[in-house]
Amino acid sequence: MSGNPGQLRVDAVGPVSDSAAALPAPAVELTDVAARLGGHRVFSYVTLTVRPGEFVALLGPNGAGKSTLLKVILGLVGHTTGTVTVLGAPAGRRNRAIGYLPQRHAFDADTRIRGIDIVRLGLDGHRWGTPVPLLSRLLRPAHHRQAGQRLAEVIDLVGAGAYARRPIGQCSGGEQQRLLIAQALIRRPELLILDEPLDSLDVPSQAGISALIQDICRTQRVAVLMVAHDVNPILPYLDQVIYLARGGAVMGRPAEVITSDTLTTLYGTPVDVLRDRAGRLVVVGQPDAPAHHPGPSR
Ligand SMILES: Nc1ncnc2c1ncn2[C@@H]1O[C@H](COP(=O)(O)OP(=O)(O)OP(=O)(O)O)[C@@H](O)[C@H]1O
Ligand SMILES: [Mg+2]
Repeated sequence: MSGNPGQLRVDAVGPVSDSAAALPAPAVELTDVAARLGGHRVFSYVTLTVRPGEFVALLGPNGAGKSTLLKVILGLVGHTTGTVTVLGAPAGRRNRAIGYLPQRHAFDADTRIRGIDIVRLGLDGHRWGTPVPLLSRLLRPAHHRQAGQRLAEVIDLVGAGAYARRPIGQCSGGEQQRLLIAQALIRRPELLILDEPLDSLDVPSQAGISALIQDICRTQRVAVLMVAHDVNPILPYLDQVIYLARGGAVMGRPAEVITSDTLTTLYGTPVDVLRDRAGRLVVVGQPDAPAHHPGPSR
């Protein structure tokens, strides 16, 4: 392991390859990045690389800065030091090529907008403030037809056909998540950024969605960065994990990051990683994240 004080490296970042030159250009590259919110340091010295076709999970306790890190990548939160390059440009410039699913709460039961219309919002670029005006849709029927085909395709892809025409407030938490994932996917993004997309899904659905995301990574060469709380249901599908804690980060293959030694060093206090009888990883002894992190302020 080497690197800056807050950044542990357990693995050469990126898929295993004989030649570094053969690797595709990174979709996301952060070097020594620090971010502050409300006068407090959230994290420092974060260095990571996500390449096209990679499925990367972002893990860490509540308040560690996972959502903030995603917002730095999207250019929604500024970084105070370091460099951030996303799809070959500074953060924020290429957001139209990014599918983003923010961390969220469930829709109210009386929300009447249909699931299919929620998915369509992604097509209109609504999230990034560039909706396609109704008039231009009417003037360009071929474009509109293509959009309709893509809408049907992506709803089918996430398996939401049975409930997409129901009001979203009447869909279960898991059904809502699938529809929101379809929204993030509809414009064929080069990069998918998903903030806890599995949080209201049961374990089989978590595995199902993870398999789907892995398939999208592999077949469409999309890079995926996904925040998750429980790594176990997604472990078989992941290429890499980033573990964020105490203002620092460690990145590498899951078997190398989620170990007693690595997490003890990251947390600065003894942490054990155990395997239960079912082979599930259990992390024991990690302290709660403080409201702001100790260490050098940047
Ligand atoms: N706008 C803000 N102003 C000040 N502090 C903030 C702001 N937003 C978040 N924070 C703080 O920054 C830290 C990181 O928050 P963040 O939401 O990134 O954590 P997280 O890892 O995503 O947590 P969770 O698992 O609960 O979603 C927390 O201590 C939080 O209280
Ligand atoms: Mg969060």
